[in-house]
Amino acid sequence: MNNLKIEKLDNFGRGICYVNDKITFVTNALPDEIVNIKLTKESKKYNEAIVTEYLNKSPKRIDNICPYYEECGGCNLLHMSYQDTLNFKKDKLESIIYKYAKLQRDIEIIPSKDFNYRNKVTLKIKNYKYGYYKESTHKIIPITKCYIAETAINDFIKDIKYLNVKNGELVIRSNYNNELLLWLKTKEKPNIDIPYLKEHYKISGIILNDQVIDGESSYIELINHQIFTVSYDSFFQINRDICSKLFNLINEYINDNEVILDLYCGVGTLGINASSHAKKTFGIEIVRNAILNAITNAKINKRDNVYYMLGDASKCLPKIKEHLNTIILDPPRAGLDKVTLNTILSFKPDKIIYVSCDPMTLARDLNELQRVYNLEVIKGLDMFAYTNHIETFCVLKLK
Ligand SMILES: C[S@@+](CC[C@H](N)C(=O)[O-])C[C@H]1O[C@@H](n2cnc3c(N)ncnc32)[C@H](O)[C@@H]1O
Repeated sequence: MNNLKIEKLDNFGRGICYVNDKITFVTNALPDEIVNIKLTKESKKYNEAIVTEYLNKSPKRIDNICPYYEECGGCNLLHMSYQDTLNFKKDKLESIIYKYAKLQRDIEIIPSKDFNYRNKVTLKIKNYKYGYYKESTHKIIPITKCYIAETAINDFIKDIKYLNVKNGELVIRSNYNNELLLWLKTKEKPNIDIPYLKEHYKISGIILNDQVIDGESSYIELINHQIFTVSYDSFFQINRDICSKLFNLINEYINDNEVILDLYCGVGTLGINASSHAKKTFGIEIVRNAILNAITNAKINKRDNVYYMLGDASKCLPKIKEHLNTIILDPPRAGLDKVTLNTILSFKPDKIIYVSCDPMTLARDLNELQRVYNLEVIKGLDMFAYTNHIETFCVLKLK
């Protein structure tokens, strides 16, 4: 299909054009560009396409620096300047919040340090080749470097061969001190060259499936002078710089002597950060190792009045019998389930701090919460720079 004009961007950062009046989403295309395209998917309501030729390029297009960009399913905004990616995220967040929660806001997006921010990557290994999957496929795009991953991870990637694994998956995590935690998932019994890896890298631990084969099962992270133990299967915010900014933002809205609940608390980060002057803090989390980490982390950071519950948010929440001043919510992408949302509404905490990694489910939940709460603050944080994703920070106060 030839000579099509890209009208605007969709929420995934894809260009939108029309083929015989059918909406068509075009990867790596910017508004006002004139392109020839090849359809990669046709359905009743829409098409997906890639560009075969740029007939007129946007002056805003920049040469992306990554040799894997065209194929890799990792980042998708590398053809924009960093400032334009922030503008895109601002428009996206404002329009979703307006469309699905009927809230019209001018939303500031807090920038990240741009490249080399990711402290965790998951690489697929197939037939001794390792890399990311090509978008929407199981085809491996072999890589030797990832521009958004931390330098310690990139240094290690070139030596993955010393793991001697033919097929599997490798999760690499790095910390503030360039230490690495390696979690290898494979059906094989690989002959890992541990002496070589330990001689060349600061290895906190190597975990094979669920067995520690060297070092520890967790690593230590440091954010704003607070120390967190994080086990191989526990969640941790993937951008340390933005995590630090998120901590500071949260603390702007916490008063002394509050009773705080950190719901979906992971290893306890947000609640521990917010509770240096709290009366009492609760945390609820479903992953066992994460809650064990949280208990340790509360001790390390000298928080005495912290109580953790292991289990599903909707089932643990009703067990809290005290009035809560603040609930900090940081749910997975799916947002709040109905039971949890209704329990929160019945608890009527003075304030809700909602941290979200998915604007769509956030808007859906805000729509419900605003029956009883006013949205006082909303900001975007560029946790996932150069991808179409955005983290959002909200403060809601009881009406
Ligand atoms: C986005 S992470 C946030 C973790 C933590 N607040 C942080 O900043 O590191 C979401 C957390 O919710 C946990 N989780 C997912 N579903 C849950 C559920 N139904 N009940 C309780 N916790 C859940 C996950 O294991 C994960 O640790």
